[in-house]
Amino acid sequence: MAAITKNQKLLDWVEEVRALCKPDSVYWTNGSQEEYQTMINTMVDAGLGTQLNQEKRPGCYLFRSHPSDVARAEKRTFIACKNKEDAGPTNNWINPDELKKTMTALYDGCMKGRTMYVIPFSMGPIGSHIAKIGVEITDSPYVVFNMKIMTRIGTAVLDALGENGEFVRCLHSVGKPLAEGQKDTEWPCIPNVDEKYISHFPEERMIWSIGSGYGGNALLGKKCFALRIAGVQARDEGWLAEHMLILKLTNPEGKVYYIAGAFPSACGKTNLAMLQPSFPGWKAETIGDDIAWMKFGDDGRLYAINPEAGFFGVIPGTSEKSNPNAMKQIQTNTIFTNAGLTDDGDLWWENSGMPAPAHLIDWKGNDWTPDSKEPAAHANARFTVPAAQCPVIAPEWEDPAGVPISAILVGGRRKTTIPLVNESTNWNHGVFLGSIMGSEITTADITDKVGQVRRDPFAMLPFMGYHMGDYLKHWIKMGTKTDASKLPKIYFVNWFRKNEKDEFIWPGYGENSRVLKWIVERLSGDGKAVETPIGNLPTADAIDIEGLDGITATDMETLLEIDKDAWKAEIASIKENYKSYGDKLPQELANELEQLEKRLG
Ligand code: OXD
Ligand code: MN
Repeated sequence: MAAITKNQKLLDWVEEVRALCKPDSVYWTNGSQEEYQTMINTMVDAGLGTQLNQEKRPGCYLFRSHPSDVARAEKRTFIACKNKEDAGPTNNWINPDELKKTMTALYDGCMKGRTMYVIPFSMGPIGSHIAKIGVEITDSPYVVFNMKIMTRIGTAVLDALGENGEFVRCLHSVGKPLAEGQKDTEWPCIPNVDEKYISHFPEERMIWSIGSGYGGNALLGKKCFALRIAGVQARDEGWLAEHMLILKLTNPEGKVYYIAGAFPSACGKTNLAMLQPSFPGWKAETIGDDIAWMKFGDDGRLYAINPEAGFFGVIPGTSEKSNPNAMKQIQTNTIFTNAGLTDDGDLWWENSGMPAPAHLIDWKGNDWTPDSKEPAAHANARFTVPAAQCPVIAPEWEDPAGVPISAILVGGRRKTTIPLVNESTNWNHGVFLGSIMGSEITTADITDKVGQVRRDPFAMLPFMGYHMGDYLKHWIKMGTKTDASKLPKIYFVNWFRKNEKDEFIWPGYGENSRVLKWIVERLSGDGKAVETPIGNLPTADAIDIEGLDGITATDMETLLEIDKDAWKAEIASIKENYKSYGDKLPQELANELEQLEKRLG
């Protein structure tokens, strides 16, 4: 048989991994729909997954993970660069030689009794000058068909890779070899979280993961490659790999604006990416919901692609109210993980807006009724769905040239201090706003720091592949590469402001389009703003609240107020955070902070 690829580096690496992991067989995925379906059918036939009611949800399947393996394992995520100093204060570091030694022992024979799948994949449209190629080796068929949705995989990628192309090496194993004749479990993994490793070797552009089959721990194209490793590549090559959605907005005159937005996990990024504007004449379409890769074009503007091909969204909370487009999108051809299974073969989850059935099988496989103490779906249950199925996907979402970005939103969950929207006055001020974003720590975080703000610069805290201070320096540097007038404008938004009764003041969801409308008006020169010590805020009447029930002029005042005392406390907390970057804190940001303090008086 002719070799599947002439790329010798790839053939050598696959052979090296085969010899170490000792699978029963090796399978190169071709990426076809037929292959995808066969792999799912094989799992369903073996009782390892469930086909849903094909009348209600054609092409949809449910999988249940092991109860220990339900989310990204941040404390087991390592940045193994040569110098500890380069990983910075926000990452777990292990010496790469030591880590390789430990993990090589774990990989030895870890795929016995299993098939080793080789998945060539492209992050971004194949052939785009912004896209990059990776190859994931895994012993999980679940990973293969999820990667098929989330990225572009198979033979076409090998063709693009050619004989000498470079690729990111992504090695994954569930870490559960099978003895001869041993039956597989529903979700093989290493249950003890302290034995899982999600490791990055930035200098070698390499990822090694073992012990988890879930999401970002196992679908290595997403957080591991597209953010942590690509972040390092972007730093070295002069571009940006960011945790951002990409949205297309068209105003009533037909003018198009592309907006990127960085929000920490659980701040409604997928919902915002697919929002339905709440007033006539405006149109919103989706380019991406989680990651943006951005490079300068020949015209000096910043162009973004969505490196992914699917959405991996949180199921609980997805409803007709929060995201009507996603509800349509996940009606067909979707892989669900850890949702509740109703007696008629459909799904149910918390905060779905759907009435709870009298009985279902919960995400752990147990009987469930509305009286049960346990949730039906795990809080981090997920759907994996092709982006192309999104009812409002923009026709140009796969344009290899990318789309020119006019504005970048940054924002977290803040119940006080941060106004609904604040426009930066220049690039460095915008980077400053990105560097100070964060969310209040909630009781769900299991720490004694409840109520304090966790700073999450550009929503990259869990996804940094190097030193956060160097990353912020990189952002500052990007602003010097083109005319200031061609740079996107940065806006700090906060949908989560609360009143004294602890209720959200701003309605959010589709109504966020009112804030986007003001932003677009600012970009076109029409929006009204007032200069304040913290940035340019909308004038009292600049945000269109016509037809918005329950929002009063007083609410708008609260949403746009600047509480000087609160800002002074904010500055003290920012200083504390900045201290952790040591001498890697960019001088430009130290200056911004000093000037803010002076302006506040
Ligand atoms: C995600 C996350 O899954 O940010 O996208 O956690
Ligand atoms: Mn994300």
